[in-house]
Amino acid sequence: MRMVRLPDGTEVAALGQGTWRMGEGRQSAAAEADALRLGLDLGMTLIDTAEMYGDGGAEQVVGAAIAGRRAEAFVVSKVYPHNASRTGTVAACERSLKRLRTERIDLYLLHWRGSVPLAETVAAFGALLAAGKIGAWGVSNLDAEEMEELRRVPGGTACATDQVLYNPQARGIEFDLLPWCARHAVPVMAYSPVGQGGRLLRAAALAAVARRHSATQAQVAIAWALRHPGVIAIPKAGNAAHVRENAAAADLRLDPRDLAELDAAFPPPRRKVPLAML
Ligand SMILES: NC(=O)c1ccc[n+]([C@@H]2O[C@H](COP(=O)([O-])OP(=O)(O)OC[C@H]3O[C@@H](n4cnc5c(N)ncnc54)[C@H](OP(=O)(O)O)[C@@H]3O)[C@@H](O)[C@H]2O)c1
Repeated sequence: MRMVRLPDGTEVAALGQGTWRMGEGRQSAAAEADALRLGLDLGMTLIDTAEMYGDGGAEQVVGAAIAGRRAEAFVVSKVYPHNASRTGTVAACERSLKRLRTERIDLYLLHWRGSVPLAETVAAFGALLAAGKIGAWGVSNLDAEEMEELRRVPGGTACATDQVLYNPQARGIEFDLLPWCARHAVPVMAYSPVGQGGRLLRAAALAAVARRHSATQAQVAIAWALRHPGVIAIPKAGNAAHVRENAAAADLRLDPRDLAELDAAFPPPRRKVPLAML
C-alpha cells in the first residue's frame, strides 16, 4: 500500500475506507463492521467517519470494527460546522470518542465551513491536540481561497488535509485547489471516488480502460484519484466483494493512454470552477 505523509510526518494509507450511509440500518451494523475489518486486513487502514453519518451510528460501527485492533487503524472523524465553536468542538469530540470507543481520534476535521470563525475552530483543535484527544486536525470542503484564509489564522498552517469531492466527473480541484495543496504539502482526501457507485461507473471510457487492465470501473476510478502522490482516496463499501475489489485498486497503475482517454471523456478544468460538494 502506498503511504501518504501528513504535515506532522505521520504516514497514512493512500487508500482508505469511507463510512457515509453506515450505521443507518441499511445493512446490519455487524456486517458493516465486518466490511471495515476486511478492509483493515487488506491494508485500507485509514477509516473516515463523521458525527453526522447515521447521527453517530457510523462512528459506533467504526468503534465496533476497530475494537481490539485500534493500533492498526487511523481514524478520521468530523465535527459539524454548527458544533465547531471553541467549546462545542471539544464537546462534539468527546461524544465522538465515546461512540468510537477510543481515547483519541487520529485526524479530526471541520466537516464544512459554517458561521463559526475558522480561528475559533482552530483554537479548539489546538486544545484537543494539547489534551491528546486528537492526533491532528484538518478541514473538508474548503476551496483554495478558503485554504489561503485558513493559513493566515493563528495555528492554521498545521492543517493536515482538505477532504473534498474528487472523481473523474468532479475534477474542478485540479485547476487551483490541488496545486495549492501540493505547494503547501497538504494532502487532499478524495471523497466519493467511485461516484457513489452511480453513473460514473457506467461510463464507456472507464469500461474501456478497465477492460485493458482486466480491472473493474471502480478500480479504474480509484487508481485515477490515486495517480497524484498527495491524494488519499476513501471509497465506502459495505459489500465484501466491493471491499476486496477496492483494495486491489491500490496496485493498478494507469498509463498515459488510459489517462488521455479519461481526459477526453471527462475534460480537466480550463478555468476556476467553484468547489463542488455533496
Ligand atoms: N467530507 C464530506 O463532505 C464527504 C462527503 C461525501 C463523502 N465523504 C466520505 O467519503 C466516503 C466515500 O464517499 P461516498 O460514500 O459518498 O461515495 P463512494 O465511496 O464513491 O461510493 C460508495 C458507493 O459505491 C458503492 N461501491 C463501493 N465500491 C464499489 C465497487 N467496487 N463497485 C461498485 N460499487 C461500489 C458502495 O456500495 P456498497 O456500500 O454496497 O459496497 C456505495 O454505494 C464517504 O463514505 C465518507 O466517508 C465525505
